[in-house]
Amino acid sequence: MSVLLLAIETTCDETGAAVLEGPSPPEIGVPIIRSSVISSQIDLHQRFGGVVPEIAARAHVRQILPVIDEALKRAGVGLGEIGAIAVATRPGLVGALIVGLTAAKSLALALDVPLIAVDHLEAHLYACQLAFPDREVYPCVGLVVSGGHTSLFACRGPLAVEPLGGTIDDAAGEAFDKVSSMLGLGYPGGPAIERVAESGNPKAFAFPRSFLHDDRLAFSFSGLKTAVLYALKGQDARGDSGPPPPGVVADLAASFQQAVVDILVSKARQALRQTGMRRLGIGGGVAANGRLRDGLAAMAAKDGVELFIPPLSLCTDNAAMAGIALIKLAAGQVADLDIDVTPGLVRPGRKNG
Ligand code: KG4
Ligand code: ZN
Repeated sequence: MSVLLLAIETTCDETGAAVLEGPSPPEIGVPIIRSSVISSQIDLHQRFGGVVPEIAARAHVRQILPVIDEALKRAGVGLGEIGAIAVATRPGLVGALIVGLTAAKSLALALDVPLIAVDHLEAHLYACQLAFPDREVYPCVGLVVSGGHTSLFACRGPLAVEPLGGTIDDAAGEAFDKVSSMLGLGYPGGPAIERVAESGNPKAFAFPRSFLHDDRLAFSFSGLKTAVLYALKGQDARGDSGPPPPGVVADLAASFQQAVVDILVSKARQALRQTGMRRLGIGGGVAANGRLRDGLAAMAAKDGVELFIPPLSLCTDNAAMAGIALIKLAAGQVADLDIDVTPGLVRPGRKNG
């Protein structure tokens, strides 16, 4: 027996829909991704140097139905065959979340099938299990690094995910985007910085690494961002001598990137040591960074830790990762049709249902 799930993702600037085929009961295997469709809004946000929430919400309204249609078409599935609807309801941009939830509720009501609310961060980490169906990913430390999140979790199971710590200011991806904008490299910043950094010296600038020698599993990237600004423009940040020579931009990019990588690798290692866990799962767009992947792999090999980094299509925002809903469905965690979105992070101690 299997169940077909239609999953919807609209937490930020990607409109996503996916069809998954899940075994019933779910313990007998990991769902198969029959289709996963993403409509990216990068072009719409590019000239603003970051995601504009209002524009994101409007673009989701335009894209959600065509994206769902395409996901069904690619899976070769009719709406009538769908047995459950999943949607990410937290955390994210409020207007963006509402579009996905409204579509999901309408479909669940019309098809008379269960609606399942999914936590976007739990879903990012479950993507590791989808990507490595033959290996046991849990229990693991989870690290989600994206434009909106930099958080560590103790994941005792797909739905037993406890926050260990996170950023007190910018997310790592956000820092990449802002530094890229300072250096005139465009948006999204991560890929642009990585490209330019290839020819730079990661040791050229000694940028700060916040909380590096602190037991707390906290991150801060705003001091690093300011340090790049000062290095670029002088201590009063007012220097206006035009763009620096390309060699300096490359050195700044490489040194900044190295600082972020050092912070992420060291905090992941600390989380592993503090929890005693031997597996590490990664999610979020920053996991595309080659230097970060290499740094994590080196640390994992040295410490005898099993590392799970999904392919990029499952690291960045996507709807397939909402396949975690099949586990909730089996556990009877079905949402009422009057549920609402929760834009903010669910804090430790708060009910995470
Ligand atoms: O997960 P994602 O697609 O969207 C959300 O933010 O939810 O992540 C996008 C973020 C952006 O901030 C982007 O600059 C960053 O991931 N990113 C990278 C790389 N590719 C994307 N950061 C560092 N290196 C990369 N190669
Ligand atoms: Zn995300």
